[in-house]
Amino acid sequence: MAIVGPSGAGKSTLLALLAGLDVPNQGEITLLGQPFSTLSEDSRAKARQGAVGFVFQSFQLLPGLTALENVMLPLELAGVSVRDAKAKAAEWLSRVGLAERLNHRPRMLSGGEQQRTAVARAFVTDPALLFADEPTGNLDRRTGESISDLLFQLNADTGATLILVTHDERLASRCERIFTLDEGRLQETATCSA
Ligand SMILES: Nc1ncnc2c1ncn2[C@@H]1O[C@H](COP(=O)(O)OP(=O)(O)OP(=O)(O)O)[C@@H](O)[C@H]1O
Ligand SMILES: [Mg+2]
Repeated sequence: MAIVGPSGAGKSTLLALLAGLDVPNQGEITLLGQPFSTLSEDSRAKARQGAVGFVFQSFQLLPGLTALENVMLPLELAGVSVRDAKAKAAEWLSRVGLAERLNHRPRMLSGGEQQRTAVARAFVTDPALLFADEPTGNLDRRTGESISDLLFQLNADTGATLILVTHDERLASRCERIFTLDEGRLQETATCSA
């Protein structure tokens, strides 16, 4: 599903709340049956692990780590052994087309390659939900389309629910459902049967 709406409407804020990266002043967020308000920051991080992946407009890779190490990180944080994490991260990087870039640092990768690395990092823990905040916003049109293709392909292959925020109408129109956030209200504005 896509969330669209004017700049400043609160789309990024909403996504961060839904993913448990931020906490609301009022109201309750329930993620996969877990009410966040009952959880400490550590427990929220645990609840996110393996359940939620996040892709940002600005990639947010750690500059000092290689592509492989960036993708290994969420696995290592979840307690997976280095050996298994390495194998799984390498498998995911090859799945997103970066088998030849495992040992490159982010600054040696193009924007599209950095976003592919970020997509691999988001999917490596087999999340049930994948949040993406303007995942193509920093990319030229063609590169952006290849990232969109990748996200929809992985959405279909893994069954992870894809929830993305975008200003790109073409990208939004590829989603099954489109919600608009405006003046504090989230309303479904389109359902595509295709
Ligand atoms: N940490 C914060 N503290 C206070 N206000 C904030 C914070 N983060 C964002 N805001 C404000 O909340 C409003 C919503 O911001 P948000 O980034 O969620 O909008 P957006 O819909 O994602 O916009 P854009 O399309 O430009 O990315 C804005 O007015 C913003 O200035
Ligand atoms: Mg935003």
